[in-house]
Amino acid sequence: MKDQFNREINYLRISLTDKCNLRCKYCMPETGIDYVDHEDVMTIEEYLKIAKIFYDLGIRKVRLTGGEPLVKRGNIELIKGLKEIGIEQIAMTTNGILLKEKAKALKEAGLDRVNISLDTLDPVKFKENTRGGDLEKVLEGMKEAKRVGLLPIKLNVVVMRDFNYDEVQDFIEMTKDEEITVRFIELMPLGEALKYKDQFVSNEEIIEKFKLIPIPPKDISSPAKYYKIDGGKGEIGFINPVSCTFCANCNRIRLDCKGSILLCLHSTKRIDLLKPLREGEDVEQLLRDAIFDKPESHHLEDGDYNPDQMNTIGG
Ligand code: 5AD
Ligand code: SF4
Repeated sequence: MKDQFNREINYLRISLTDKCNLRCKYCMPETGIDYVDHEDVMTIEEYLKIAKIFYDLGIRKVRLTGGEPLVKRGNIELIKGLKEIGIEQIAMTTNGILLKEKAKALKEAGLDRVNISLDTLDPVKFKENTRGGDLEKVLEGMKEAKRVGLLPIKLNVVVMRDFNYDEVQDFIEMTKDEEITVRFIELMPLGEALKYKDQFVSNEEIIEKFKLIPIPPKDISSPAKYYKIDGGKGEIGFINPVSCTFCANCNRIRLDCKGSILLCLHSTKRIDLLKPLREGEDVEQLLRDAIFDKPESHHLEDGDYNPDQMNTIGG
């Protein structure tokens, strides 16, 4: 369906949980977070009921996010259910820790591809940044994802000056011989990441430094711009959440693990669908009205940041 600005909304990002098996410094506080109470979290059955309503309103593409979506029990069942509903493309954003053991079952259930969040290729730095994570598991997970055909694999790299700026070249070189997409993401100053504001590196700086060659956009609703290196097999993407100008082409909406929808990554307003669903109200009409009212654009330039932690939004 279209919103009032004539944007066709066909892409839903579903956060499966606010829980995560890592504690990345810019995402979660060291002490952890107050997780949503169990009875407020949607069951797989409820996810599917809501997904069916979204499908009837025109959603054809779904991305599963978190927290970490692979820690959610029932995720395989959910993917199967989404396929049965008729969702055409299902992708997932994961930290990759559990991917080695789950990739095959995910593929068989109907998952099409994965984006893996990986900010460093150095095991010591990885352990420090994720507060205990094992890089080897992610690398093995990536291999397995490739083997079972969850393609193309995209890596999401959040760049921070003193942490991984010195590895940008290594990430770029991964695209030389492999059909992998490495996407650099500018650090968004929200939640925990506010502490790392001075670590910000702009995409422009990287594009200029490495003399990257632009490639034409394939999808106007994507916030990423793509480049490659001379003769490279893979691609290099840049995501600029703050100064992005893609709002006019935005086709997406988000559903969190409490069953609330978020009309824009940067909006603080959440509209609850779970209580109405549990009480047997007309969720489709509610959703129709909500989508129609999707904000025209964000106001990040004015410092209007979402105070919510990323783990409840799913990126
Ligand atoms: N700015 C940019 N990206 C972020 N992510 C988490 N927090 C931030 C932030 N403040 C990224 C993760 C993951 C994706 C879901 O969002 O690294 O790749
Ligand atoms: Fe977990 Fe992703 Fe947050 Fe890291 S960035 S703590 S992997 S949700």
